[in-house]
Order: sequence, then structure tokens, then C-alpha cells
Amino acid sequence: MPDMSEVKINLSEMSPTDKQVLIFSFYRDAELRGARLLFNLLHHLKDAEAQLKMSRHLADETRHAWLWTKRIADLGAAPILIDDGYQRRLGMRTGVPKDLIDLLALTVVVEERARARYMQHAARPDVDAETLGVLKAVTEDESWHLSWIERQMREIAREQGKPERADQALERYREIDREVWASLAADEAKLLET
Ligand SMILES: [Fe+2]
Ligand SMILES: [Fe+2]
Repeated sequence: MPDMSEVKINLSEMSPTDKQVLIFSFYRDAELRGARLLFNLLHHLKDAEAQLKMSRHLADETRHAWLWTKRIADLGAAPILIDDGYQRRLGMRTGVPKDLIDLLALTVVVEERARARYMQHAARPDVDAETLGVLKAVTEDESWHLSWIERQMREIAREQGKPERADQALERYREIDREVWASLAADEAKLLET
């Protein structure tokens, strides 16, 4: 199994299938790490409606990870383990969220990035039907994830008497996200070229 440094060096020499396997592995990694954020949230939001939504949200993220894994398997390959992907780099920069507002804001920013990546991929002219089907399904889910988590975050910030905390946390994480993404965008664009 190649590690990422090896993969990067060989990026231009990779076959179209290898490129697809790597990009789907990136998506899979982001979904699995997104699921972990949801697991963390489960212990924090105790009301019945939030528990219901988080359970569905978590089920979605693990299903998304499976859908990408299946695309990889259908190509006759196995997922590549990503140890230096978007979420890991993001986590290194943000540190551990210090309160619930931070955890929710981080989740929002991660969902926004996932949705943007999927929409960018789906807009390409050369996407095969199976991949497009997965991209559309996951993008739709990311949109509702993003909206309920953001609503929840703002509600809690209001209840705490600090509504401005929501925007401050979002702003901080979005800035880090943009910087982290800038370090990955060029490689990902190359992978999308066939
Ligand atoms: Fe997802
Ligand atoms: Fe999501």
C-alpha cells in the first residue's frame, strides 16, 4: 500500500483508475473522520430531537464512507489509507475544540468543505454515471447536515447569552480551512484530470 509521499511523487504518472482510487480514498477518509466528529457530538447534545438528528447524520456519514469504499472496490481496488488528508491537516491546525460551539462550528466547516469538493467534482464534464450518482446522493445529505448543525450551534450560542460566539468560531475555522485547503487543492485538481 503506497503512503502519501510516494503517491504525491507519482501523481503525474498515475493511471486514470489509480487517480480515481486515490480521490475516492480521500473522500472516504473525510467521511470517516466526519463520522468521528458526530460520535463526539452524541455525548454533548442530550435532547431527544438532537439525538434523533445526530443518529441519522452519523448513519449518513458512515454510509457515505461505504459508498466511496464500494466505488473503489468496483474498480477492483482497495481503499488507500490517508494519514495526511484534509481533516488531519485541519485538526493539526485547529487543535481540539474547546467547547460545544467550537465542535459544532468545526463540523459546519468540514461539511461545507465536503459539499464544495463534491459539487466541484460533479461539475466536471467527464464524470462516469456511477460516480455522479454517489456525488449527487452525498451532496444532498451534506446540505441538510450543514443546515441543522449550524442552526443548532446558533441556538446554543443564543441560550448561552453569547450569540456572537457562533460567528466568531465559524470565522476562525473557515480561515484555517481555507489555508489547509490551499495546500491540497492543486493536488486534488490534478487527480480529477483524466
Ligand atoms: Fe458525508
Ligand atoms: Fe455530512
